[in-house]
Amino acid sequence: MKSKMKPFSINVGRGNKTYPVFETSLTHLSKDVSRFVKGISSLFCVVDANVFSLYKPRIDELLKKISKSHRLIVIPSGERTKSQKSLDRLVGYFLSEGIDRNSFVMAIGGGVTTDIVGFASSITLRGISWGAIPTTLLGMLDAAIGAKTGINSVYGKNLIGNLCRPKFVAVAPEFVLTQSRAQFLSGAAEAVKSYGISGDPSPVELIQILDNPTRVDPGVIRGVIFKCARMKSRVVSADEREKGEREALNFGHTIGHAIESSMNYRGITHGRAVAAGMIGAIYLSEKYSRAKKGEYAELLALAREIASSGRRIETIKDIVISALASDKKNRSGKNRFVLLKGIGKPYITVVSGKRDIDRAVEISLVALNVK
Ligand SMILES: NC(=O)c1ccc[n+]([C@@H]2O[C@H](COP(=O)([O-])OP(=O)(O)OC[C@H]3O[C@@H](n4cnc5c(N)ncnc54)[C@H](O)[C@@H]3O)[C@@H](O)[C@H]2O)c1
Repeated sequence: MKSKMKPFSINVGRGNKTYPVFETSLTHLSKDVSRFVKGISSLFCVVDANVFSLYKPRIDELLKKISKSHRLIVIPSGERTKSQKSLDRLVGYFLSEGIDRNSFVMAIGGGVTTDIVGFASSITLRGISWGAIPTTLLGMLDAAIGAKTGINSVYGKNLIGNLCRPKFVAVAPEFVLTQSRAQFLSGAAEAVKSYGISGDPSPVELIQILDNPTRVDPGVIRGVIFKCARMKSRVVSADEREKGEREALNFGHTIGHAIESSMNYRGITHGRAVAAGMIGAIYLSEKYSRAKKGEYAELLALAREIASSGRRIETIKDIVISALASDKKNRSGKNRFVLLKGIGKPYITVVSGKRDIDRAVEISLVALNVK
């Protein structure tokens, strides 16, 4: 993906505990990643099955170039892979193949792969170094950054996990060109969220990427990835353990997660649910804090476009509302929302007005079915 912008590189973290999120390309991946695996005893590369079938020759070549001793593990695609069973298998494989403290684990795939592989690395021998090569838009601008790793359980999503910093996050934007439109839009929703809470990237750039990633100027996609990755890196560097500022990254996620949970995480992408959740959060923002008239017009239009993409979705409002009651962000049984005082001005608040929450959920659900 060529454009005039120089490849970006962002340092995440503070002091001597930083790691780089840097841009590379499919052509330069092996050269750019090799410096992180110098002197290791063995490389364990874990790849998402769909990614492997699309990029097998590239991945084989990458592994040959960067390590003399490597194992390749292909894991099934999809959210169900973030399970205790898959984790057991992965760690079991590492141990049975003689992984040691000087080995390195590398994840190639979307957020599912980087989440489970990062977690497996963090608990094997109490911590093996790992690196991430995200292959989805969502992974590049969000999931692979910030050191949160984990799996799902019968009690909910991402409830078992760890903070474990990777040694690097290597972003090759060309990977997104083979994503399905629905998955691409799922990542784009997090970019729209970035605009809502930080004002960056701009609506003009976002409108372009929503149109069609294969027709857009590559520089626009790279610019959007860079701006979102920079925003997330800044926030997690200041508040890695989510004691304050990092919570703002949950804009749209309170209702979004409740929608996903009410559907058992099937039939809707994470981003589409978050886009619908942002529409509910904008409604509450307008109600609870004053903003200039029309302040959220562009944000709403972008979120609506993603929420209404794809097939109609039948959700039952009452189930979504009861899912809200078990949100892990709740405190003393009250729902916490990230609302806006304007574009780029997020704040966290408890919303206790039941009628307001009902209405926000209703508006979010309607947005999923407007054609
Ligand atoms: N750790 C974090 O901070 C964080 C943040 C946000 C999301 N997440 C997690 O990320 C996950 C969602 O990530 P995701 O949207 O990347 O999902 P994903 O990893 O399931 O990937 C989505 C789909 O795209 C396919 N795919 C991946 N790369 C491809 C490519 N280049 N071309 C074609 N197909 C490709 C995958 O096989 C899969 O079917 C969720 O589990 C979520 O909880 C984690």
